[in-house]
Amino acid sequence: MHVLVTADYQTLSHTAADLVLKAIRNKPDLCLALPTGSTPLGMYEEIVRRYRDQRLDFSRLRTFNLDEYLDLASGHLQSFHTYMSRQFFDHVNIPAENVDIPNGTPGIDAEIESERYERNIAQAGGIDLLIVGIAANGHIAFNEPGSSFDSRTRAVELAQETIANAQQQFGNERAPSRAITMGIRTMLEARRVLLLASGAAKSEAVKRALRGPLSPNVPGSALQLHPRLIAILDEAAAPH
Ligand code: GLP
Repeated sequence: MHVLVTADYQTLSHTAADLVLKAIRNKPDLCLALPTGSTPLGMYEEIVRRYRDQRLDFSRLRTFNLDEYLDLASGHLQSFHTYMSRQFFDHVNIPAENVDIPNGTPGIDAEIESERYERNIAQAGGIDLLIVGIAANGHIAFNEPGSSFDSRTRAVELAQETIANAQQQFGNERAPSRAITMGIRTMLEARRVLLLASGAAKSEAVKRALRGPLSPNVPGSALQLHPRLIAILDEAAAPH
């Protein structure tokens, strides 16, 4: 495990962007797994800025998102589809057919959709670089405490605190209580993993994930099993 502690959120975002762009330079048909949430916003912004400034070409990239809410239309303002379009895909030349995000639209058969997702990842040759955040309760993607380290892409029930956090974005509308997420095993099969964490609210979760005992109660602790893990933290999120 390689842990990089940066001074602040901006440096974290630039460092993550550097690493991702270097990986793309080395392999223009890189297969990336992408996160949502507030943590990677600065990284996406910096990647898009450099894509424009340096006239980069992302036309051969392949991407899979980590997760998506279930029972929510893809076009909903709070869907991860919408987040990804706004923060990243609308600004770069990744062909739409190279982008995959779990489909959580109401009425979808989540089991069939999860199988489709796993199959597509395998057909793409697996994930080269997986970028992931961590929640204060230790979840990675939407693998909540209690998730098996052998789990694969599947429908999950969200933890109460995850729903409560999401509710802040959903306002008067009821936040989803289910999601489709890559499993922990699916994530660990990526060839490289980049963990991003920012802010004091994450330091306890980061400590338990990177230094604590391996436990399904702390899904992030599974990352210790990965032979090529890089954690980029800012000072506030770093365990002390
Ligand atoms: C959601 C996402 C996770 C993300 C987490 C933390 O639950 N499914 O992938 O890591 O939020 O989000 P934030 O970066 O906003 O703290």
